[in-house]
Amino acid sequence: MAAPAVAAGDSSAENMPEAAAEPTESSAEAQKRPQFGTRFLTDPRQVFQHNAWDNVEWSAEQEEAAQKKVQENSQPLPAEKQEEFDNRANEYWNDFYTIHENRFFKDRHWLFTEFPELAPQRKPPRDAEENLLNGEEVPSTHTDTEFPGASASYRILEVGCGVGNTVFPILKTNNDPGLFVYCCDFSSTAVDLVKSNPEYDPSRCHAFVHDMSDTSAEYPIPDHSLDVIVLIFVLSALHPQKMQNSINRLARLLKPGGVLLLRDYGRYDMAQLRFKKGRCLSENFYVRGDGTRVYFFTQDELHDLFSSAGLEKVQNMVDRRLQVNRGKQLTMYRVWVQCKYRKMMDSLQQHGGLQLTRD
Ligand SMILES: C[S@@+](CC[C@H](N)C(=O)[O-])C[C@H]1O[C@@H](n2cnc3c(N)ncnc32)[C@H](O)[C@@H]1O
Repeated sequence: MAAPAVAAGDSSAENMPEAAAEPTESSAEAQKRPQFGTRFLTDPRQVFQHNAWDNVEWSAEQEEAAQKKVQENSQPLPAEKQEEFDNRANEYWNDFYTIHENRFFKDRHWLFTEFPELAPQRKPPRDAEENLLNGEEVPSTHTDTEFPGASASYRILEVGCGVGNTVFPILKTNNDPGLFVYCCDFSSTAVDLVKSNPEYDPSRCHAFVHDMSDTSAEYPIPDHSLDVIVLIFVLSALHPQKMQNSINRLARLLKPGGVLLLRDYGRYDMAQLRFKKGRCLSENFYVRGDGTRVYFFTQDELHDLFSSAGLEKVQNMVDRRLQVNRGKQLTMYRVWVQCKYRKMMDSLQQHGGLQLTRD
């Protein structure tokens, strides 16, 4: 059943993707793309000369104004409303994908420069003993009848994959024959769109419906089996009280030495400041006009979530970007957080070696 209609809002403005009109580029171009954080605005008079500026410094007044704006709209909606948005969260996302299909989010081509773990692994071959010490699996003795991708040597899972804007660029760019990509979303409409994409290849990829906040639900892969987990603008869609257990559950799926990669909304991003009164669910957590929800993180909050799950920091950065609409002479201050956290090697001992186990 479709989720009930909610007050019409400018959901495209609130659900602002990072780059709404990013041009598509080839895989080779994607790999050559410079990392974020390389173009700086030193002369404010030049602001309209480029589409975006990196690492923009916020003045104390700007930060204060943002805090004030958030404060003005911090009256939470009644508990019954909150519960309904939580219980029917996947239906609102189903409706979102029924309307937008695969036209809303753009392919995430910055993936390979920011997260080289997703690109082909060009490491020189090492012997099995060294692989073991590095927490890598020795060539798998499993067969794909045990679980999809069991015989793969490098396994990536994307949670909250939507219609595949991360998964398909990975499959296209990463030609490692040992690669297997899992992807899930709690919107069955989104997963159907992934599976019906002509680029979906079940011999390299397995898409499934899964609610990451339901920690009693099984993943179709054993614990300690994944090299990489990717969370792109999905953790922010969960109820804040469900985030820790969801991350704990995901951490169990990682091999020792495996990494969790995240990019998501940061505190005082323009999308947060645009919310009007009557949209706040709890501190820094909002519901959009279309019933989908979003949280705006600080770096410390994410650090606490990941380290409490037994993961160690490799990267935790904030990306403050000034996006410019040159035609309309508009400036938009975006704030995103990007994290890379690794499962500690001593979890190898805690889990009794590299045997892949099912619950
Ligand atoms: C903002 S979209 C991002 C989609 C995709 N990661 C991308 O970057 O294009 C958030 C996605 O997370 C999914 N999602 C939200 N809550 C979820 C949950 N509890 N479990 C699994 N997926 C969820 C939504 O259905 C939606 O596809």
